[in-house]
Amino acid sequence: MYVFVNAAVSADGKLSDIRRGQVALSSSEDFERVDRLRAEADAILVGVGTVLADDPSLTVKDDDRRAEDGNPTRVVLDSRARTPTDAAVLDDEAETVVAVTDEADDERVSALGNPADVVRPESPDDRVDVRALLDELDRRGVESLMVEGGGETIASFLDAGVVDELTVYVAPVFVGGRDAPTLVDGDGFVEYVDATLRDVERLGEGVLLSYSLNGSLN
Ligand SMILES: NC(=O)c1ccc[n+]([C@@H]2O[C@H](COP(=O)([O-])OP(=O)(O)OC[C@H]3O[C@@H](n4cnc5c(N)ncnc54)[C@H](OP(=O)(O)O)[C@@H]3O)[C@@H](O)[C@H]2O)c1
Repeated sequence: MYVFVNAAVSADGKLSDIRRGQVALSSSEDFERVDRLRAEADAILVGVGTVLADDPSLTVKDDDRRAEDGNPTRVVLDSRARTPTDAAVLDDEAETVVAVTDEADDERVSALGNPADVVRPESPDDRVDVRALLDELDRRGVESLMVEGGGETIASFLDAGVVDELTVYVAPVFVGGRDAPTLVDGDGFVEYVDATLRDVERLGEGVLLSYSLNGSLN
C-alpha cells in the first residue's frame, strides 16, 4: 500500500492555533491540489482529534472529479469510539471505517456500527495499531492511503515507518502558542525520521514541500 501524508501548516509549523479548531491555512491553489489528491486516493484517514475539532467530511469537493473518481473510503483512528454519531464523516457521501480498540465501549461501537464499518485491529497498546489497521485496509483492497492528520496521527504513522511520501503546504503566517498542534506531535522520536526533500514549489503565497520517506509497505 502506498501511504502519503498531506497537511497544511503555518510558517512556524502549526496545524492549528491554541484553540485547536479548523484554521484556513491552505491557499485556493492548495485546496485544489488537495482535492485532486483525495480523488486519486483509495482511502483517506484522520484521527478522532481532527473529527472532534474540525468535523471534516473528507469528500472530494469538485463535482466533475467526484463524478469521475468517486469519494475515497474515510478512515478514523478512534480507540474509544468517540466519533459523534452526527459527525460529517459518517454521512452517506462515502463509506467510512472507524478503527477502535478493546477500550471502546460496546454501546458506542454499536451506535457507530450502522453508518460506519467498525473494525478492531489487533492493538497491543491503548491506541489503534497502525500496521494492523493497514493490514485490514489492505484486505479491503486499499492500495493508496492519504493521511490528513492531525499531529498525533502523523506522528504515529512516521513512528510506524510506513510513510512513503509527505507533502506539506507552508502558509505565510505565524500562529504561535506552545500548545498549538504541530505537524508531528506524539512523544517525539529518539531516532529522528529521515526524509529526502524531493521538490519545493511556490503555490500562491505559500510554499509546497514534498518529501519522500522509507515507507516499508510497497
Ligand atoms: N492543517 C491541517 O492540514 C490539519 C489537518 C488535520 C487536522 N488538523 C488539526 O489538528 C488538530 C487535531 O490533531 P490531534 O493531534 O489533536 O488529533 P488527531 O491526530 O486528529 O487524532 C488523535 C487521536 O486519535 C486517536 N488515535 C487512535 N489511535 C491512534 C494512533 N495510533 N495514533 C494517534 N492517534 C490515535 C487518539 O484518541 P483516542 O485515544 O481517543 O483514540 C488520539 O488522541 C486539530 O486542531 C485540527 O484542526 C490540521
